[in-house]
Amino acid sequence: MLRNIGKIWELLNKKQKWVLVLLLIMTLIGTGLELLAVSSINPFVETINNPNVLNDKEALTGKVYRLLGEPGYTEYLIIMLAGLITIYIIKNAYLLVLYNVQYRFSFENQRLMERELLKSYLEREYTFHLKHNSAELQRNVLQDVMGMYHTLSSGMTLLTEGGVCLALFIYLLYLDKTITIGVVAFLVLIFGLYTAVFGKRNNRIGMESRKATAMRVQWVQQSLGGIKEIKILGREGFFLSSYDRNSAAYAKRQRQYQMTVTAPRPIMEAAGISALLGIIAFKLLRGVNASYFMPTLTTFAVAAFRVLPSFGRLSGAYGAIAFQKSAVEEVYSGITKARNEKKEAGIQSKTKERIDMQEGIACEGVTFKYPESDKTIFKDVNIKIPKNKSVAFIGPSGAGKTTLVDVILGILSPVEGKVLVDGKSIDQNIDAWHNMIGYIPQTIYLMDDTIRKNIAFGIDDNIVDDNRIWEVLKEVQLYDFVKELPEGLDTYIGEGGARISGGQRQRIGIARALYTNPEVLVLDEATSALDSETEAAIMDAINSLMGSRTMIIIAHRLTTVEKCDIIYQVKNKKVTETTLPK
Ligand SMILES: Nc1ncnc2c1ncn2[C@@H]1O[C@H](COP(=O)(O)OP(=O)(O)O)[C@@H](O)[C@H]1O
Ligand SMILES: [Mg+2]
Repeated sequence: MLRNIGKIWELLNKKQKWVLVLLLIMTLIGTGLELLAVSSINPFVETINNPNVLNDKEALTGKVYRLLGEPGYTEYLIIMLAGLITIYIIKNAYLLVLYNVQYRFSFENQRLMERELLKSYLEREYTFHLKHNSAELQRNVLQDVMGMYHTLSSGMTLLTEGGVCLALFIYLLYLDKTITIGVVAFLVLIFGLYTAVFGKRNNRIGMESRKATAMRVQWVQQSLGGIKEIKILGREGFFLSSYDRNSAAYAKRQRQYQMTVTAPRPIMEAAGISALLGIIAFKLLRGVNASYFMPTLTTFAVAAFRVLPSFGRLSGAYGAIAFQKSAVEEVYSGITKARNEKKEAGIQSKTKERIDMQEGIACEGVTFKYPESDKTIFKDVNIKIPKNKSVAFIGPSGAGKTTLVDVILGILSPVEGKVLVDGKSIDQNIDAWHNMIGYIPQTIYLMDDTIRKNIAFGIDDNIVDDNRIWEVLKEVQLYDFVKELPEGLDTYIGEGGARISGGQRQRIGIARALYTNPEVLVLDEATSALDSETEAAIMDAINSLMGSRTMIIIAHRLTTVEKCDIIYQVKNKKVTETTLPK
């Protein structure tokens, strides 16, 4: 358990650590104030119960009484009441401030941690994302980080409530040894039993709950993401029941967890009160005078109402830490990994430079295998893509065309061999390589945003050049369409471009690739999904760029690539130059 908190501590920066320590001190002061408030009731009750205490030389009440110049009995009671009121108001005002500081620390840093985790995922290589389901990563960012801060606050609870219990224990010990030791021994026994029984179990429940969370998110996404196919095939029931299965597992784990966190309170209360009253009964039986209990009992009752929930919170915090263990481990490993392999050029400092390509691109002895797969996709590929030539890759589907192009793009790394630009490996400056590429995949990823934002795709609003946008819209023959829209470039195209046609979606993708005026254009079946007429129109636009750009085109319709200078056939793990059948 301490290891978990240690992991979180490791992730915090210097300032956060200081604030945390400050917060801890503030919390301890708050706890001290609470104790003061609890114990300040006793003198008042004592004074009512036994006015003679005012004449007692030893008692604190008597001392204060004389310090105030021995006012009348009633006046003194009123002064005490005023004192009590003041203590309670100050204590609770302080607590309000404390809660505010706590929430600020927790939520602000939680946000920063989420950001760091998301950033680390954005920086991860493409193969990492091929392996991980996005719903899982979503959960890590949005829920596990929350779990981590929950662990941190639970750790604080353990410390402060532990402190409260200890202080109250000492105070009560001073009031009555037998009762206190009896009650506390009993409570500690129950707490020990609880942690022994539920610690490991909560670990496991936590892990299973995390799995169910990711699956639950995934099924909601899949149900809504595939809505068109689902509706036409009438498979709503299947998707709903798949969601049900996972959400039921999630609900069950959450229920079990909430029970183990909540149950200690009533159990501790029942146990504590029984022990307390039991011991009193025992003392009465032993012949101790009942009047002796009056003030002690009141204090005990007040203290019990503070101590019992404290014990409950202690057990709850312990349960929460166990429950969040696997979430903390996930966040910890994600963030430390990212910190250890810090990229030289982070997201913020991406270079704007491009490679000044003179000769062209080449693959030398490139062999590729997907990680965690034994199947070699292609072996010892040696090809040249000269500058400003158009190169086509053809071949049966599943042959490895997309994979080869992904290797050339540098988002997949070859197992052997190199991809070179003018004889230099693209790994030497991958950002500069990417800066000169326009990439158009078969399915364009579109945001639920305006046409302008989808073409600029991440270029800051205030540096987007509308003239350039209109230019590329002309090139992809969307100019008239957008001109006639009442909202023009500000038209929202719906999620995934749901409000425009397939051809228009594809053209927006091409416009996006052209916007930066890239020297290398890569089309991976960019027009395959379109009807031949639209395809011909778009290819006309693309073909008009031939000769002034280096083009890499994957297509399955041979007519699409008939104007290319070089044709490569991808087949049986080999890439060979070929000609189109006449
Ligand atoms: N992430 C992956 N992990 C393992 N194998 C993959 C992965 N992606 C694609 N493949 C395999 O690689 C082969 C080539 O795929 P791909 O390059 O997409 O073919 P093409 O574009 O020529 O149709 C296919 O057999 C496919 O099963
Ligand atoms: Mg493909």
